[in-house]
Amino acid sequence: MRKKIAAGNWKMNLLVDEATSLASAITEWYSKQYQGEAEVILAVPAPYLSLVHAIIGGHKGIYLAGQNVHQEASGAYTGENSAAMIAGVGATHCLVGHSERRQYFGEDNALLAKKIDRLLATGLVPIYCIGESLQQREAGQTLEVIRSQLSEGAFHLPADAFGQLIVAYEPVWAIGTGVTATPEQAQEVHAYIRSLIEGQYGPSVAANTSVLYGGSVKPANAAALFAQPDIDGGLVGGASLKAPDFIQIIQAL
Ligand code: PGA
Repeated sequence: MRKKIAAGNWKMNLLVDEATSLASAITEWYSKQYQGEAEVILAVPAPYLSLVHAIIGGHKGIYLAGQNVHQEASGAYTGENSAAMIAGVGATHCLVGHSERRQYFGEDNALLAKKIDRLLATGLVPIYCIGESLQQREAGQTLEVIRSQLSEGAFHLPADAFGQLIVAYEPVWAIGTGVTATPEQAQEVHAYIRSLIEGQYGPSVAANTSVLYGGSVKPANAAALFAQPDIDGGLVGGASLKAPDFIQIIQAL
């Protein structure tokens, strides 16, 4: 059975006191008041991994993620973080291929395939982000872009390894813009993603893969998006920085 997941991507936001308060508020609410079955993942800046792990560690259903990882195991890569380092301070998951990494740091599908391999070899769950730009959508290339990101980045994996992945569909034009894909637009791509997974790995892997939607998810639109049959949760940026908003989004799941 695929899981319902609310993942918060803090990006390069929050000072240490703010990060502490936010992680504490979410953990407190989730562990004491939340009755549902959705899992929560917090993708936090690398300097806060230990700190947030100390807050959420031991609470069932709430997990810690890195936002990026280097593809090599270790070595002379100043400024980078290895999968083993991220895992060593309590992370269980890591984002890979966020559109901001693709856009500002030149990460392509071939590199992301290596990062996914490194994470899996280290026992971390990759959250593989894919999505088309506005230009690509307007040129009618959405499904082709999705197909190549998925096949070049992840379809080299054998079925049991692919089965560990979480996929996040994030149309670039909806990230941080306030413009959300309509539930129907998102569902169309999610269904396509699941059909590609089915074509590669068969119906059981496809049915068991969690596919999250990201791009201006807010309390006001979360329920309609999550009601779609192939949307298993959200990867939430801006609205994950405020505990009340993120809590409402978890509740919408
Ligand atoms: P947003 O970001 O919710 O602020 O649009 C989503 C993301 O980039 O993961």
